[in-house]
Amino acid sequence: MKVLLTGAAGQLGQALRQQVPAGVELIASSRAGGEGLVALDLADAQACCTAVHEHRPDWVLNGGAYTAVDKAESEPELALAVNGGAPRAFAEALLDTGGRLLQVSTDFVFNGQQGSPYRPEQSRDPLGAYGRTKAAGEEAVEAVLGGSGQGVILRTSWVMGPVGKNFALTMLRLHRERGASGQALGVVEDQVGCPTSTHTLAAACWRTITAGISEPVLHWSDAGAASWYDVAVAVGELALELGLLEHMAPVNALTTAEYPLPAQRPSYSLLDCSSSRKALELAPTPWRQALRQLLEAVA
Ligand SMILES: NC(=O)c1ccc[n+]([C@@H]2O[C@H](COP(=O)([O-])OP(=O)(O)OC[C@H]3O[C@@H](n4cnc5c(N)ncnc54)[C@H](OP(=O)(O)O)[C@@H]3O)[C@@H](O)[C@H]2O)c1
Repeated sequence: MKVLLTGAAGQLGQALRQQVPAGVELIASSRAGGEGLVALDLADAQACCTAVHEHRPDWVLNGGAYTAVDKAESEPELALAVNGGAPRAFAEALLDTGGRLLQVSTDFVFNGQQGSPYRPEQSRDPLGAYGRTKAAGEEAVEAVLGGSGQGVILRTSWVMGPVGKNFALTMLRLHRERGASGQALGVVEDQVGCPTSTHTLAAACWRTITAGISEPVLHWSDAGAASWYDVAVAVGELALELGLLEHMAPVNALTTAEYPLPAQRPSYSLLDCSSSRKALELAPTPWRQALRQLLEAVA
């Protein structure tokens, strides 16, 4: 089975490349290309279409995205080209070639106001530019491939891995920088979601493909719930246990209002993954256990 992967240099892309299942021929792409990667600019819809016709993959695994949530507020056109235009181009080309699309998406397509976990079939209502562009990508996949069974949207949340840019690695760096002096970190406590490790997310993506899952929308996060504050404390505690830190910095809980950022974020964006876990036949990993495994891989 041939799979065209985008975003291969990103944190999820690197985990996907480490876990390629037997029998999969992987064509891995990144914006720049090189080092065994094909160059593919997701902002170039024609290039996305050409790549599908050239490689004729059984699946496109669209793991690449414009992921700078705050910067997207000032670059909405570029974010929309990458997050909305590329999935549309892949979907249209795959309709011709007969391949399938796994579109990775986000909890940020929801407004976070319902106070209980979001089910896969619930309506989108994004709060910021990043969420709106990812929602546009979902809508394109549904509009072009809905009914054909060729499109699968897999939403996830708070993605963190041992490489790349993510909250866990930022907190580890800040604990290291401030632990000895006792200078506190301030971290938001009134946004609740669930961290997801790139390792477990990659396994869910590959299972979707190898099992030929046909649910139009899947939800995949690690198990449990947490605030950003909880995750910052857990990173410090686990890093101490693993010998990655000598001193943990104190962590002060902040409200969202006390830590203003350009993009508004959902205050409660837990994903209900129960039906997807059954469909994928994958047991969830508690988020703290997955975070521990992530930190062990950093060590
Ligand atoms: N990170 C999260 O917390 C989170 C949460 C929910 C869902 N997701 C989704 O999960 C997926 C994987 O995200 P991630 O965390 O692995 O993000 P990431 O580490 O930022 O990786 C995204 C990759 O996309 C690439 N990319 C951006 N613009 C491109 C373009 N024009 N052409 C080609 N490649 C381009 C980036 O390359 P450059 O380095 O060259 O920019 C980067 O390698 C995305 O669909 C994201 O929306 C992420």
